[in-house]
Amino acid sequence: EKGGFEHFMLKEIHEQPKAVRDTMSQRIAKDGKRIVMNELKWNADFLNNFNKVYIVACGTAYHAGLVGKFYIEKLARIPVEVDVASEFRYRDPIVDENTLLIVVSQSGETSDTLAALKESKRRGAQTLALTNVVGSSIAREADQVLYTWAGPEIAVASTKAYTTQLILFFMLALYMAEIKGTLPDDEIAHFVSMLQQVPAQISETLSDVEPIKTFAKQYGFNEDVFYIGRSLDYDVALEGALKLKEISYIHAEAYAAGELKHGTLALIVEGVPVIALATQKSVYEKTLSNIKEVKARDAVVIGIAAAGDEELEKYVDHVIHVPETDELLIPILTVVPLQLLAYYAAITRGCDVDKPRNLAKSVTVE
Ligand code: M6R
Repeated sequence: EKGGFEHFMLKEIHEQPKAVRDTMSQRIAKDGKRIVMNELKWNADFLNNFNKVYIVACGTAYHAGLVGKFYIEKLARIPVEVDVASEFRYRDPIVDENTLLIVVSQSGETSDTLAALKESKRRGAQTLALTNVVGSSIAREADQVLYTWAGPEIAVASTKAYTTQLILFFMLALYMAEIKGTLPDDEIAHFVSMLQQVPAQISETLSDVEPIKTFAKQYGFNEDVFYIGRSLDYDVALEGALKLKEISYIHAEAYAAGELKHGTLALIVEGVPVIALATQKSVYEKTLSNIKEVKARDAVVIGIAAAGDEELEKYVDHVIHVPETDELLIPILTVVPLQLLAYYAAITRGCDVDKPRNLAKSVTVE
């Protein structure tokens, strides 16, 4: 049942090329130049009705929502707020008939997310669910549904759900951009062609695990690990830190690299591991200067960069390269070594990877 893998988590990490291919399938026009969403059939009148999009979710799905916000704002130019469901539902949120509420949930059964969805419907919002489970409570409750088609995710730590949610958000943002006319056709076609390369690029990333295993063995003996990045790299840092905490029980913190100086830098001393993501061109130099600051305190820095980046290795201890793609899509690649790092660190520490202590796959209590 684990397909030759030692754990479901590892199997699911390796299923990601197929999972993201399945997410895309049926959603790219035959000419390969646009996105089709037969499930939605939105038009400009429908979209222009919304002055705000709210994305609400928990855990890893919330982290996917942060990336979703970036995509929708950047490509479709609609303001987006993201919130964790257990906060959203108690804050008297500003939600009405001009709000598009997007909930994200792998299982479709998370009770706080379901409650947020019901509350938003009551306040008149249009609702859309991104979920993996057909016929789940959230799928049934939402006005409209987009399935991730990732296949069953058994391990408690979410992996292929996250990458497929990112793919779906990217496609949704392109679809919205096309309807709203916020992106020229040739740019949309360019993004669609980049998207189609992602499955093979994930496979490439998965083919080079030995260095990650080596780092994980070293990290397995640490008490704290820090993850830093800016922009989309920060969103991925949050997900990487959650994976490590959840299955290896190592304390991990993700920091927006520019925030280090506002407190966390005090914790960076000799030998502390820092995973530094530096893939976003618009903030590359700024990130580099933050990396130099942690290096100056003798942290052990592993950089995550796009292929072709020859700069980062001059300033860090090791670099893991992922294939080059558009910087909007790179989170789908950079998260993969972070998943593997968490997995092998947990193995090094002898943890029960698929069933971490105190956690359940689906959180149906509030
Ligand atoms: O099924 P959901 O996507 O609604 O679950 C949300 C979170 O409970 C889930 O992502 C959790 O954070 C994962 N165990 C993280 O790996």
